[in-house]
Amino acid sequence: MANSEYEYVKREFEFDRRLPASNWIVVRIDGCHFHRFSKIHAFEKPNDENALRLMNACATSMLEKFPDIVFAYGVSDEYSFVFREETEFYQRRESKILSICVSYFTSVYGMKWKDFFPNKDLREPPYFDGRVVCYPNMKTIHDYLAWRQVDCHINNHYNTCFWMLVKSGKTEKEAQQTLKGTFSEDKNELLSQQFQVNYEDEPAMFRKGSSVYRDKVETKVKTDDYGNPIKRIRLAITVSNLDIIGPEFWGKHQYILQEGKYRYEYVKKFDDIRRLPCCNWIVVRISACQFDKFSLIHSFDKPNDETALSLMNASASLMMEQFPDIIFGYGFSNEYSFVFQENTELYQRNERLILSSCSSWFTSFYMMKWKEYFPSKELVQPPKFEAEVLCYPKPKIVCDYLSWRQAECHNRNQYNTCFWMLVKSGEDENKANEILKGTLSKDKNELLFQRFQMNYNNEPAMFRKGSCTYRQKCKWLQVKVSEDVVRDGWDVAVTHVDMGPDFWRKHIYIFDK
Ligand code: GTP
Ligand code: MG
Repeated sequence: MANSEYEYVKREFEFDRRLPASNWIVVRIDGCHFHRFSKIHAFEKPNDENALRLMNACATSMLEKFPDIVFAYGVSDEYSFVFREETEFYQRRESKILSICVSYFTSVYGMKWKDFFPNKDLREPPYFDGRVVCYPNMKTIHDYLAWRQVDCHINNHYNTCFWMLVKSGKTEKEAQQTLKGTFSEDKNELLSQQFQVNYEDEPAMFRKGSSVYRDKVETKVKTDDYGNPIKRIRLAITVSNLDIIGPEFWGKHQYILQEGKYRYEYVKKFDDIRRLPCCNWIVVRISACQFDKFSLIHSFDKPNDETALSLMNASASLMMEQFPDIIFGYGFSNEYSFVFQENTELYQRNERLILSSCSSWFTSFYMMKWKEYFPSKELVQPPKFEAEVLCYPKPKIVCDYLSWRQAECHNRNQYNTCFWMLVKSGEDENKANEILKGTLSKDKNELLFQRFQMNYNNEPAMFRKGSCTYRQKCKWLQVKVSEDVVRDGWDVAVTHVDMGPDFWRKHIYIFDK
C-alpha cells in the first residue's frame, strides 16, 4: 500500500497489544443477554441439553479451525479457549485473536442452530463478548480451569435445587428463600429427601461442564495380508464431561498443556516497548521521595525553604536547557511537572526511556547545584526522585492539569502556613491539626489575620503560587541568524503567577510551536 501523507494516522495511533510470550492465552467468550435469549427460544431450565450440545459443537469447530487451541472448557453460555503456550497465532495480537474467536464462534452457532433445534427458528441473532487473559505457568492455567469448573458445580447445584422447588409448586421467591445460606450437603439432602434425586446421577454435562481437546484414540487404519486390523494411535477432537480439577485428568493428558520449547532468542519478545501516542502533550511529573526525612536531615525551613525551592527551580531550568522539547515546567514543594511539546520525538516517545532519563537528569542537576545553593550545608543523604508520565491530547487539558497542581500548591501551602504558625506560637501539633480540621480557605485567612496579624496574600508568591518555568524572548540575548539578521534570543524565565486564562492569553506562543 502506498504511503500517503495520511498514513501516519495508522502508524502513529494504531497500537495492537502483543500478548506476552511464554504464556497460555485464554479467550473466554460469554453469551450476551442469554437470560433473554434462552427465554425467547424456550430453553429448558436449568439446563437445555440441546443448547449445551450446540455450544460444544461450536467449540469443536473452533479446535478444528484453529489448531493452536489445545483445550476448551464450557459451561452455560460461556466457553474458554486455551492456546498453546508458544502460539504465534496472529503474532499474538490481542485484538485479532479476540475478535476472530468471538466472530467465528458466533457464526458457527448460527450455522449449526438448525442441527440442534430443527423445530425452532432462530428468532434473534445470538452474540457473544469475550476477553483475553494470559496465564504464565502450568499452575495458573490449571487453576484457571479448576475455577471455571468449581463455578459450574456451584451454579448447577443451586440451579438444580431451585428449579426442582419451582417445578414442585414453590414460587421463585420461596425457592430462593429455602436455599438461602445452604451448604452443599444441605442441597444434596434436599434433593434426595424431597425429590428422591441423587445429585451425582444428574448428567455429567450439567455437573461438570464440557471439555474439548484432542484425545489419543486407537483407530483401524487398514488390515494386514491376513485380515488382521492394523491400529494406530491418532489424535481426535473429543468432548468429555470429566473432572478437570483433580490431578487425574491432567496426569493422563500431559501432552495437552505442554510447555513450549523455545530457542533462547525468544527472551527478546518480552521487551515490550510502550510508545506514547503521537499528537499528545507528554507531561513528566517528578517528585522527591521521602522528602519529609530529607528536609529534616538538611534542616530546611518550615513550611517553605526558599533556598530549597530555588534549587528545584534551578534544576528545572537546566532541564529546559537539556531538553529543548520541554515547553513548560511547573513546580512547588518537592515536585516538578514538565510539559513536552506535542510532537516531541524524544527517545521515539518510548515511555520508559523518557521517564527514566528525566528522573535521572533532574536528580543529577539537583546534586550538581546543591553546593551553589547551600554552600555551608553538606548533602548528607542522596536525594531521589520518582517520575510518572501522563499524556494529554489537547492544550486545554494540559492547562487544566497545571491549574490542578497549582490549586494543590495553594491548598497545601495555606494549610502548612497556618499549621506552622500555630505550632510556633506554642500549640502542639495534634492541637494545630484539630484547629484546622474542616476549615475552608477563607477561615484560614481569617485565622492568620486574627491570631497573627498576617495577611496570607502578602506571603511570598513562590510559596503561594509555585513556580512556572518557560522560555521567553529576551532583548539582551541577541542571536545572529545570518550576516545581517539578528533576532532576540530565548531565555528561561521563572515566575510565580496564576496560570489562569490571562496568563495563557499572554503566553499563547508556549503551546504554539
Ligand atoms: P451477560 O452475559 O452479562 O450479557 O448476561 P446473561 O443474560 O448472558 O447472563 P450470564 O452470562 O451471567 O448467565 C447466563 C444466563 O444464560 C443464565 O443466567 C441463564 O439465564 C441463561 N442460560 C444459559 N444456559 C442455559 C440453559 O441451558 N437453559 C436455560 N434455560 N437458560 C440458560
Ligand atoms: Mg452471558
